[in-house]
Amino acid sequence: MSKKPWAGRFTQPTDAFVEAFTASIDFDQRLYRYDIQGSMAHARMLARQGIIAADEAETIIAGLEGILADIEQGRFEFSVGLEDIHMNIEARLIERIGSVGGKLHTARSRNDQVALDVRLYLRDEVRAVADHLADVQQALLDQAEANLGVIMPGYTHLQTAQPILFAHHMMAYYEMLQRDAGRLRDLAERLNIMPLGAGALAGTTFPIDREYVAEQLGFSGVTRNSLDSVSDRDFALEFCSAGAIIMMHLSRLAEELILWSSADFAFIELSDGFCTGSSIMPQKKNPDVPELVRGKTGRVYGNLMSLLTVMKALPLAYNKDMQEDKEPLFDTIDTVKGSLKIFSAMIAEMKVRAEAMRLAAAKGFSTATDVADYVVRKGIPFRDAHEIVGKTVRYCLERNKLIEELSLDEFRSFSPAIEEDIFAHITLEASVDARRATGGTAREAVAREIARARQERAHRSRN
Ligand code: ARG
Repeated sequence: MSKKPWAGRFTQPTDAFVEAFTASIDFDQRLYRYDIQGSMAHARMLARQGIIAADEAETIIAGLEGILADIEQGRFEFSVGLEDIHMNIEARLIERIGSVGGKLHTARSRNDQVALDVRLYLRDEVRAVADHLADVQQALLDQAEANLGVIMPGYTHLQTAQPILFAHHMMAYYEMLQRDAGRLRDLAERLNIMPLGAGALAGTTFPIDREYVAEQLGFSGVTRNSLDSVSDRDFALEFCSAGAIIMMHLSRLAEELILWSSADFAFIELSDGFCTGSSIMPQKKNPDVPELVRGKTGRVYGNLMSLLTVMKALPLAYNKDMQEDKEPLFDTIDTVKGSLKIFSAMIAEMKVRAEAMRLAAAKGFSTATDVADYVVRKGIPFRDAHEIVGKTVRYCLERNKLIEELSLDEFRSFSPAIEEDIFAHITLEASVDARRATGGTAREAVAREIARARQERAHRSRN
């Protein structure tokens, strides 16, 4: 059993099971790089303020560099007895450079240290998630552009409603992910504030320079209240919340891809790499990847709920409960990144079955609203037009006909206002292209949005 840095007050060793139960090293070791980065900045500050000597800081920093290399090359053995990443590194530092290593923790506590480490770590991960989001958006945009003319049925209540462009449908997801990216940018700003210097909870008696630590680590400012600094986990909650919304969006697309790749829809085909077969039914090609992403959405929602519940009603300031922030946060990061990564590849490789989509749109009376609008333009009130077209649809259903297969005489039996030009208004193309105001499904409107999105992309990669 390792000697604890806090063993001074204790007369008996920790029970082995308690030690394992309270340790976080199994999961918080992923913070090692940020823990070291933060410690180096802290050591430089201590020397600059005359709290430790310049050569002591140099020795400490060299020692930390050695530890970093050891960890990266798999030469570092993490010890459960040393509880967490902070004590593992500190204990190793003292082993390496002697008692001067013990000066690193001057004017610092693990409470403000862990708050710093998680912020540094999450700052990088937010960038990584944003990059993955951008890749999915790119894949959606490419599919939209490559299939601009493809018409499919649009649905409400999962019943055929009006014809839309497949590209318009893809671009709907582009917009959702654009808002997700905005949420990440917002939270990144609040995240980028430096908490070190709060000490255990009340601040420190040493003449520290918090702004200098912040500057070294690229933070935009320092936290303003020591109690809040060590007990705030809002930044993790905000990320778990943004992650949950991203997964909600992906789950909706996942659901549609699953439906669309069924034999009954056959609107798309996912490439074999994203599907699996059945051990008993030879015809099966199962859309496992979108199904799993749909399923993992539950985990990510759960992570948000568990962190909210961990934090609920905790008295100020630090409580050990808060060590439970890491697993839900880490799991959200891993799951969201993985889901986005696999989605961008899957969408890029997805094959679009234009014929099947078109046929479905033609079969479902999707242009009924266009007939009604036509009748309205001939001077009939909309409510009456609705009634006229309703009867027309029933007539078609009874005779197993599509609306565009009716003769002019048949149309006129429902309303004499209908004339020869009706046929030009009820093609799928005419229906789609008539909706050309901003945000509509007309080819020209969707092409404008695709061009705008391309500019947005170009702007993002320049920043
Ligand atoms: N491993 C701890 C955590 O993640 C670090 C802070 C521990 N502080 C303490 N007073 N025990 O929360």
